[in-house]
Amino acid sequence: MVDATVGYGGHSLRLGSRLGPEGTIVGLDVDPQCIETARSRLEGLNCRVILVRENFDHIQKVLGQLAIEKVDIILADLGFCSGQIEDPNRGLSFQQPMPLDMRLDDRLEKTAADLINKTDEKTLADILYQYGEERASRRIARFIAEQRRQRPIQTTTELALLVCRALRQPDRRPGRKIHPATRTFQALRIAVNDELGCLERLLKAAPDLLRLGGRIAVISFHSLEDRIVKHDFKRNQAAGIYEIVTPKPITAAADENKANPRSRSARLRIAQRKTD
Ligand SMILES: C[S@@+](CC[C@H](N)C(=O)[O-])C[C@H]1O[C@@H](n2cnc3c(N)ncnc32)[C@H](O)[C@@H]1O
Repeated sequence: MVDATVGYGGHSLRLGSRLGPEGTIVGLDVDPQCIETARSRLEGLNCRVILVRENFDHIQKVLGQLAIEKVDIILADLGFCSGQIEDPNRGLSFQQPMPLDMRLDDRLEKTAADLINKTDEKTLADILYQYGEERASRRIARFIAEQRRQRPIQTTTELALLVCRALRQPDRRPGRKIHPATRTFQALRIAVNDELGCLERLLKAAPDLLRLGGRIAVISFHSLEDRIVKHDFKRNQAAGIYEIVTPKPITAAADENKANPRSRSARLRIAQRKTD
């Protein structure tokens, strides 16, 4: 199986314990720290474990280099691990001031600060609208452009405050579930990491890599990703390539939502490579 987003190895550990000595897990992640954590967590498995620091949009190349032609399972649990969100160097949270980085893969050239400070106002507004579904995208982009004329925007809290000012909303309001800057941060993250492009390329590669009867499972955390997965599975089903296993996405049960609030937005969709 390919765990396309091995992270801290939680899924691989569960699935790997059921593969047995004949099985192989190829785990991918762009974050070297995740690869290291997964390596020690998966040490005790009795199947073969191969961990590669690589973007999952290169899945075909990685499997080719390993001389693996077909796999039974491709699993992708998209986005970030909780540890990455809390990492003060990563700039994903606006709870405390962090440099505006947002790269999952530190080999990428452009950080969120580069985007914020160097992208022209119209393109910035388009990014916020397309990837954040932010209706006030033009107003936020205008505020950003005005602010950076005085000095570059450098921290997550600076940006979050600026978004609040643009939206004429307070930074902190008791009982509020979603911070006004959430959509802006989502948009920047998606743009910095080309998250939707990578997902599309993974989905495009999958049918050729799955053995007949093999399955692809994708867990997404926002509607833009989920829509891409849903349409890809539908298109492939119409073409006779996939059979959709989950007509409706699987979501977390109430007790899991309570224990792990991030699971609230998770949507799992599964498709099976058709056998005839
Ligand atoms: C939600 S976490 C996965 C957690 C994992 N399932 C576990 O059980 O620990 C997502 C992981 O995918 C990685 N990731 C995100 N996009 C990626 C991509 N395009 N290619 C490879 N890894 C990616 C992130 O670095 C992160 O570690």
